[in-house]
Parts: sequence; C-alpha cells; structure tokens
Amino acid sequence: MVENRATAVSLGRGFWSVTAVLAVLSVIGIVYWLVAPLGTVMPIVAAEPGAQVDALLRFMAASGTALFIFVGGYLLYFSITFRAKASDGPDAVGVQIHDNHVLEFWWTLIPTLFVVLLSILSVRIWYEIQVAQPPNGLVVESLGHQWYFTFRYPQVNGEVTGEMHLPINQPVVLNVTSSDVIHSFWIPAFRLKADMVPGLINTIRFTPTRVGRYPIICTEFCGTDHGMMNATVPGEGGKPNAGAQWLVVDSPADFQKWYHGWQVKNANVSNALPTTTGTVNLTGGDASAGQALFAQKCSACHALAPFATRIVGPGLKGVLHDPTHPNLVDGDPATPANVADILEKGYTGDMGHMPDATQNGLSSKDIANLVAYLNTLK
Ligand code: CUA
Repeated sequence: MVENRATAVSLGRGFWSVTAVLAVLSVIGIVYWLVAPLGTVMPIVAAEPGAQVDALLRFMAASGTALFIFVGGYLLYFSITFRAKASDGPDAVGVQIHDNHVLEFWWTLIPTLFVVLLSILSVRIWYEIQVAQPPNGLVVESLGHQWYFTFRYPQVNGEVTGEMHLPINQPVVLNVTSSDVIHSFWIPAFRLKADMVPGLINTIRFTPTRVGRYPIICTEFCGTDHGMMNATVPGEGGKPNAGAQWLVVDSPADFQKWYHGWQVKNANVSNALPTTTGTVNLTGGDASAGQALFAQKCSACHALAPFATRIVGPGLKGVLHDPTHPNLVDGDPATPANVADILEKGYTGDMGHMPDATQNGLSSKDIANLVAYLNTLK
C-alpha cells in the first residue's frame, strides 16, 4: 500500500500555536528594525547614498531577524516534540519524509525570490557608488601614507594636508590610492569605504548632505601607527592623534574660502614629478636592504619566480640573468640601468601598469638597493 506521505506526517499538536507565536515575535523584530534608532550605533548619515545604505541595512536586519526566529523556533519546537522517548528502541529512527513537491516548490521559490530581491536592492546602491557618472562631479583624490591621509584638488597645486573639505550638496568623485602599503579610507558618517592600494586607483561617488565634521578612519592594518589613523580616538594625554583627520562638509561659501586658501598657500608648489632622466646612481646599492624593500614594496605584485609566474606583474627571479628574456618588458636590454629606469618612471604597456617611483614612494637610494638585490637573483 502506498501511503500519502504529505498527510501521513504529523507536525505535532502544538505546531500552529508555535507558528502563531513565532509570527508575532517576527513582527515585533521587523517593526523594531524598521524604527530602530541607528544613530545609537552609527553616526547620523551625512551623505547620499548613505540613507539608502541604512535602508538596506534595516531591510536585511528585519528579514534576517524574522528568518532567525522561524528557523530557530521550529528547530527548538521539533527537537522537543519529536525527541526520543524512553519506550523507543535503541535503533529507532524518526519519520522519513521525501517527495513532498508542494513543500519543495515553496522552499525553493521563496529563498530564491528573496536572494534576487536582495541582489537588486544591493546592486542599485553599488551602481551609484561605483559606476554612475554624476554631472558636475568634483573630482578629488586621497592618498594613504604611513600614517596619515593627503588630498589633491583640481585647482590646487601639490597636496592638501590635514583636513579634507567638501562643499555640501555637490556630487563628489573620490579617487583613492596609497603611496606605501594598503590602507582603507572609511567615513562612517557617509557609510562609505574604499581600499587604498599602491598602484591601483579605487573610486567612490557620493554627495555630502549635511554640514559638519566627520572622522576619516583607516580600516586596513597598515603598520605600527595604524590605530593613529583614526580621528575619534584621542592620543596620549587626550590630544588628537598625529594622524587624526577629519572630513569637513562646508557651506559652498566656506568651502570656497578654504579652497582659495590652499590655492594661495600652494601657489608655488610644483606639480611636476621629479625629473626622470635615468640619473639614479646605482653604485653602493645594498642588496640586503633591497631584499627587505622588495618584500615590502614589490612582493604584492611580483613573485620571486621565473618571468611567466605572474601575480600582477611578471616574476622577477633572474630578471637580469634570464637568457630566455634578454629584454625587459619595455623592450630595452635587461641591464641594471634599464631596470632602474623602469623603477623610476614606471611602466605602462602590454604587461599592465606599474606606478612610478614617486607613487611607489621609492627614493633613488631605494632604487639602487632594489637593483642590487635583483642582480643577485639568478
Ligand atoms: Cu592606514 Cu591602517
């Protein structure tokens, strides 16, 4: 006899009462997240699309809470209702259920629709931050350093140090990168974060919507004073940290005043990169200092392995002594002077892009040390 499995299975006597209780608890959880004062755990939103990020957080927390209450509640209920009884034999097994197509249809469809909905909501915000091209966007750059941030503005020579200012209600395109190790640029009040990676430019887009002072925090461990790249934690004696920095959102008039101040202050600063005439003096290069520097500055992109072993750029073991690659990636013969030339000027071509010595934070002495080290690799 074939039994009708769908109706033969008992859900236990208390199932519908438990379901009602879980539904009430879920509604309480959902209402809590819809009205929860996020300001107690996060600063008040000061930029778009920050409010949308908060709305997404509320949605995820509300649906996650309801999901947790139902899954956890049923788990507990079924564990108690269908626990082994003293009268059960030692090898007793529970009721085996399969081929319940109605159940399987719904437990496949509902999670799928939920994930699709979550993806649509997330991608919309992601698109605004990563892809959209705001008209009249103010393009600003920030560089991470050990252990502070600097900034570049369109009509200001050189770099702006200390505070970063932006005008209210003006769309901003912020390009970030690093001069040394990996940092991460985080403005909690803007709900935005971007990794600052040497040799890579990451871009985020936003519009400040609230005048005020907001901390910029580094969220990537970047060495001894990583914790100092945080404007909210007072340093020794309650004083602001050396690296403590703020993003200040100004009224348009205040911003213009500040902006003009930097234009005047940096009027005589040169924007030109250091002259790249291949004049690095390679004598006295220290291979062991070069080895340490390689680990710090180069190893993220270059393996100590044969040419074909690429991370980002080619492997550099034997770069100066590889008969199968007598020329460098720029076509010049593999000589110490030509390697120094690439380190100094950077490289852009078939193999990709390597920043120049200024962007990589390499002095002439560093280049000499690196070349001496590379020359020892056979
Ligand atoms: Cu910079 Cu952590």
